[in-house]
Amino acid sequence: MRMYDLIEKKKHGGTLTDEEIREMIALYTDGTIPDYQMSALMMAIYFQGMTDAETFTLTEAMAKSGDTVCLDRFGDRSVDKHSTGGVGDKTTLIVAPIVAAAGGIVAKMSGRGLGHTGGTVDKLESFPGFRTSLPPQEFADQAERVGLAVIGQSANLAPADKKLYALRDVTATVDSLPLIASSIMSKKLAAGTRSIVLDVKCGSGAFMRTPEDATRLAETMVRIGIAHGRNTAAVITNMDIPLGHAIGNAMEVTEAIEVLRGGGPDDLRTVCLTLATRMIALSCKKSIDEARTIAEDCLYGGKAYAKFCEWIEAQGGDASYAKDPALFGRAAHTGEVCAEAGGYLSACNAELIGTAAMILGAGRQTKDSVIDLRAGILLLKKPGDPVEKGEVIARLFTERADTLDAAADTVRAALTFSETAVEKQPLIFAVIDNHAVFSKEEPTP
Ligand code: URA
Repeated sequence: MRMYDLIEKKKHGGTLTDEEIREMIALYTDGTIPDYQMSALMMAIYFQGMTDAETFTLTEAMAKSGDTVCLDRFGDRSVDKHSTGGVGDKTTLIVAPIVAAAGGIVAKMSGRGLGHTGGTVDKLESFPGFRTSLPPQEFADQAERVGLAVIGQSANLAPADKKLYALRDVTATVDSLPLIASSIMSKKLAAGTRSIVLDVKCGSGAFMRTPEDATRLAETMVRIGIAHGRNTAAVITNMDIPLGHAIGNAMEVTEAIEVLRGGGPDDLRTVCLTLATRMIALSCKKSIDEARTIAEDCLYGGKAYAKFCEWIEAQGGDASYAKDPALFGRAAHTGEVCAEAGGYLSACNAELIGTAAMILGAGRQTKDSVIDLRAGILLLKKPGDPVEKGEVIARLFTERADTLDAAADTVRAALTFSETAVEKQPLIFAVIDNHAVFSKEEPTP
């Protein structure tokens, strides 16, 4: 195989064979193929796309390029949820204990936040003592005992994707649908769960800006999962506005605990119940209606909250914080953003709110930045809500008073007001299940 020939073939819209893709990934991972040739191929793929068969093979080759986790002993019960990333997205903290309480086994690797988006691993570190790295045997044992274990991504999981993603990031080739789909799914396949539910976000705070693009990505990922024998479904959810009211690590954990105790914001609860329903349906082999009833029983009956406390403790965290979230404390400095005129809040750009939270210290500007677990934003109003002149729309929290002005300006830039009433946006645009069927799901609080 000559890399030059593959680039030439793809440049003219040809189809790479399975052997070519497998060899190319092996030779790139071991350093034989240089970055400049791989960049040229990525750009050719960006313009010419890939067939499903090429995308499936690329995903599998990347998944097998490093360690793979074996969860076969749990059968279909092992289940993972993946979010394509958002602002205020604390769904794992709620969904994972609901599903574990229902009998699923959530053995999950999660990421850290970067830029305007948050990461579950950072949020979990709000609990003093919580261990986000466990040896493989302890990870599997905890998953079996508690039904739930969440750790940071293993360094050697899909190393081909790690190398390729870093290359795509600096060669303007991230936003290619087959490359995004294969990148995400290679890590999901390597992580070993038999069932996978994808939360594909769309809107101003997400990779995919429109429901149509998000749906195309979701359909490709569902097809990849099914082609590799995984029960896979995707939910397209709104990330035009942040999810829930809290943005920032300890504040998001507190909000997740409110939902687990039967309260919390309606939008967050609705998205969580939809995701949990799909995870229970796939992992516990239930109909959607049965799974929904089970999810609601686990949430409203307190089993999910009990499971959450058990999980935090099992992973070394101080569960007294789960019982009394006031222990997380508040950041030293606060600020406010108020409505400059009366009317309605009509938009709240999720990316800008995430950026404002990052400025306050809740997120990382670069991979090496240190985050402040108590920093963040509490949004008191959401689009569609009526507002009065001078009413507080958002409260800001930080340990660094010098960040407040820039963060407040960024929050102001995120907000749009209208004199007339505006409709609330849909929360869930579509569910793509394992028949690649497209259905509308009514959001139910
Ligand atoms: N997230 C990933 O893991 N890979 C991509 O290509 C894009 C988003």
